[in-house]
Amino acid sequence: MKGLILSGGAGTRLRPITHTSAKQLVPIANKPILVYGIEAMVEAGITNIGIIISPETGDDIRAAVGDGSVFGAAITWIRQEEPLGLAHCVLIARDFLGDDDFVMYLGDNMLEQNLVGFVSEFESRRSAPELGSTGALVAQILLTQVDDPSSFGVAEVDAAGAVVKLVEKPENPPSDLALVGVYLFDKTIHDAVAAISPSARGELEITDAIQWLIDEGYEVAHDVLEGWWLDTGKKDPLLECNRLVLDTIERQIDGEVDEASVVEGRVRVGAGARIVNSTVRGPAVIGENTVIENSHVGAYSSISDDCVVSNSELDHSVILANSTISNVPRLVDSLIGSHVVVDSSSRVPAGIKLMLGDHSQIELEG
Ligand code: G1P
Repeated sequence: MKGLILSGGAGTRLRPITHTSAKQLVPIANKPILVYGIEAMVEAGITNIGIIISPETGDDIRAAVGDGSVFGAAITWIRQEEPLGLAHCVLIARDFLGDDDFVMYLGDNMLEQNLVGFVSEFESRRSAPELGSTGALVAQILLTQVDDPSSFGVAEVDAAGAVVKLVEKPENPPSDLALVGVYLFDKTIHDAVAAISPSARGELEITDAIQWLIDEGYEVAHDVLEGWWLDTGKKDPLLECNRLVLDTIERQIDGEVDEASVVEGRVRVGAGARIVNSTVRGPAVIGENTVIENSHVGAYSSISDDCVVSNSELDHSVILANSTISNVPRLVDSLIGSHVVVDSSSRVPAGIKLMLGDHSQIELEG
């Protein structure tokens, strides 16, 4: 079985962070989202992985992943010139995929559940079809109940448990079962992606390709997800995901903590980092070579490498590499990009002085 990770796309819902970097490289507990997907595949025994990249962010993604050997994987890079849809990704990955079964994984999705059971279930269902199955099993999808099905692909499952209908972001959803961004396919999907036409948004939808399989009489199995799942492409789900992952970390102090500082609970402090006259309350991660000085870093914060936090207090926030937070009395629920400076000054005239990128969002204290 091969793996196909989709890591193109513009990331419009995470602007301005995604003006300069890929949404799949935004860190969760200081590790890029995409790396969690690669690790989950390798854990399920899938080491031959193709990654779809866009011309805009592909180079950064390649630099972050390398040849995959650190993860025990071999990576094939596949460039998608334009974001023409998830089914289009399957179309352009044809040479890489050959006639093999594969798991397709959306590079901005994070799941608590690993892929081991999902993959082995597909393999056993295919070798021993269930009683009453009507056609050849050619795909398996993963579903979960959501409050806002209109934001996702939605599945309708009949009383016998068969997937009968799939619709992409429907105005009137037939159920509250959303498609999670993990799919298993055999080679029949190549006929499906070649047969469908672009949707109203101009994309070849994987949902339509799976519907084609059903319409042609093939069987599509489904599993219902266990544990949490997040499509991390927006700020609040991203912070929530950071919180859920930080809840699982262990304490590890590789950097220096001076005598005046208190590091409480499950905190990871990277090599070369320095905690000076500060409090860090876990769960939290502090990246390599980051300096925390005369500050308080509260629970559920992830501060990436090479940052400086001085004379400040922050909580429940994600800060990307090379940023500086100084003299900020209280920063909460924030996602801060890389190379950002947030400072306060007592110079007159008083007031908030901003230089913000396009699509920035600022919420001032009321
Ligand atoms: C895509 C799929 C959708 C699925 C979702 C999961 O949507 O088209 O069917 O439910 O991922 O994250 P997108 O995030 O590309 O809008």
